[in-house]
Amino acid sequence: MRATVDRAGLDSQGRASKVQIRRVKKGDLSRIRDVIEQTFADFLERQLGTRPRQAFGGAQYVHHRWLMEPWGCFVAEEDNAKIVGTALAVNWGSVGLMGPVAVLTNYQNQTIGQQLIRAVEEFFEENKVALHGTVTYPTSPKHLLLYHRFGYRPKDLTAVMTRVLDRMPAPRPAVNAPALKPPLRQPGVTVRKFSSLEEAKKKATLQRLHRITNAVCRGLDLAKEIEIVDGLALGDTLLLERGKDLLGFAVYHAPGVSEAPAGALYVKYLAIDPQQKKVEHLEHFVGALEELAQEAGLARVILPVYTKYHAAYSTLVRLGYQIEFTMVRMQRGKQEDYEDPTHLVLDDWR
Ligand SMILES: CC(C)(COP(=O)(O)OP(=O)(O)OC[C@H]1O[C@@H](n2cnc3c(N)ncnc32)[C@H](O)[C@@H]1OP(=O)(O)O)[C@@H](O)C(=O)NCCC(=O)NCCS
Repeated sequence: MRATVDRAGLDSQGRASKVQIRRVKKGDLSRIRDVIEQTFADFLERQLGTRPRQAFGGAQYVHHRWLMEPWGCFVAEEDNAKIVGTALAVNWGSVGLMGPVAVLTNYQNQTIGQQLIRAVEEFFEENKVALHGTVTYPTSPKHLLLYHRFGYRPKDLTAVMTRVLDRMPAPRPAVNAPALKPPLRQPGVTVRKFSSLEEAKKKATLQRLHRITNAVCRGLDLAKEIEIVDGLALGDTLLLERGKDLLGFAVYHAPGVSEAPAGALYVKYLAIDPQQKKVEHLEHFVGALEELAQEAGLARVILPVYTKYHAAYSTLVRLGYQIEFTMVRMQRGKQEDYEDPTHLVLDDWR
């Protein structure tokens, strides 16, 4: 007898099954994590020829994103019993970001992915986000066409960049890059952790940070991201200051239950105030993040950068960061192409 348990669309008696899209409940979280891990491991195995032990090197996406944006998280459930797909989304103010989206390999190409994306699109519309965004695999016709159906356009590449830290904060090895220099440090510029602020000061600081992101993209707001990182101690938000001036900020994750893979400090978002956009400030900031990683005993720093932010991208290359992999940014809606190549911004839409 032919086994049907593994065949999507049919139950063990050969009857057609029913897949429904619904919002995520707390009890779903670990199963969603498994679905994402398994699906991406299958996908990467097909791409790379070997199966990664962990699809994201220990990075986690589900629990904190659901806490941050419960209305933006969906599952596809078969016969009210088995989760076979998921799509998560968060709103950074006016910018809605979708991902990860995953459908178990045996359930793919049966429109489940499209139903999940439609649910996210409705969530974006309900919240009146101006710009819908995601990143995907630039070499996959399936992915590009899937998002095209929903009006997304492929844009530039996002480069996820890494630097392996020297054991001691010593000058960098000159291999491949004779002109490599450590990040410049600026007199009078200091860093401070958001978590160290008194509770009463945090709200006012979030408003100041919103002024920076609003100057990068109208309505962009990272407050929820900063608050969840603070509340769950996923990492912290580093404030770059000169006296009373706030020059910029960086939301970073440290390994554990965050988006940082094992052994790495991972920056989710960094912006230098566009009114203070000196490359030296970015260099100083990168140096401070590397120091922080070193103090925490971490071996690497991961800095994702959208290559359209050319000044930021070039700075990372100059500082010895190497491209680990690339994805393509997909956008739809108002404020498409808001990114200014001179802005010193690092952001990751995964
Ligand atoms: C991407 C993903 C979520 C799509 O889910 P899915 O349920 O397979 O998607 P759907 O069935 O709704 O739609 C896929 C469409 O692409 C089409 N397609 C499949 N292979 C294709 C190819 N090589 N070229 C072009 N189109 C292709 C399918 O025919 C289908 O279109 P149709 O409905 O007109 O037949 C799923 O493949 C997945 O989980 N992949 C691995 C993880 C991943 O890459 N996630 C997304 C990261 S951005």
